[in-house]
Amino acid sequence: MKKIGIFYGPTGGSTEKVATMIKEEFGDVDVTMYPISDHTATFINHFEVVIFGCSTLGSETWNGKSTKSDWDLFRPEFDKLAVSGKIFALYGTGNHLTYPRNFVDSMGILGKILLEKDATIIGQCPTSDYEFTESEAVINGEFIGLPIDEDFEASKTTERVKNWVIGLKKILF
Ligand SMILES: Cc1cc2nc3c(=O)[nH]c(=O)nc-3n(C[C@H](O)[C@H](O)[C@H](O)COP(=O)(O)O)c2cc1C
Repeated sequence: MKKIGIFYGPTGGSTEKVATMIKEEFGDVDVTMYPISDHTATFINHFEVVIFGCSTLGSETWNGKSTKSDWDLFRPEFDKLAVSGKIFALYGTGNHLTYPRNFVDSMGILGKILLEKDATIIGQCPTSDYEFTESEAVINGEFIGLPIDEDFEASKTTERVKNWVIGLKKILF
């Protein structure tokens, strides 16, 4: 059985809530959740399947300026992250009504860092299921991972997570 880790940040809000939902949806499969703020690339390198979860919090995040967010602090670790033989998947929390031009941008920023490293990424999602204007997370016409809007579409989260994990399991097992 592949060793699966969900590495997420920030903690205590919807990004953590969605990590828990993803873990539960995997059922009997051994999936462990870790706040990204507590871990290094060296630790993540022990996992065969890595799920990264992030929220998008404003223009400093989109511009890549340091906001001291969990993921900004982790950023130098990407140089040490091993991608060969591993599978990555991403989810991102955001708000499609207040931030339609930057919907889940951080997920795209993370995805592009991984793509530059030639990482294998699964779990892309069609844009047709979402209303938004622009997003860094749309790469080659689809979301690079699973967008979740707990602010204005919380009623859709369970179904979205469920379908996404079904798709991941089909590829992984
Ligand atoms: C200051 C601020 C800026 C935000 N900027 C964006 C944004 O640019 N794009 C987006 O999709 N959501 C944005 N959001 C919405 C958050 O990503 C969303 O509420 C998310 O669920 C927060 O996750 P958390 O509860 O784990 O912190 C912003 C929220 C705040 C408070």
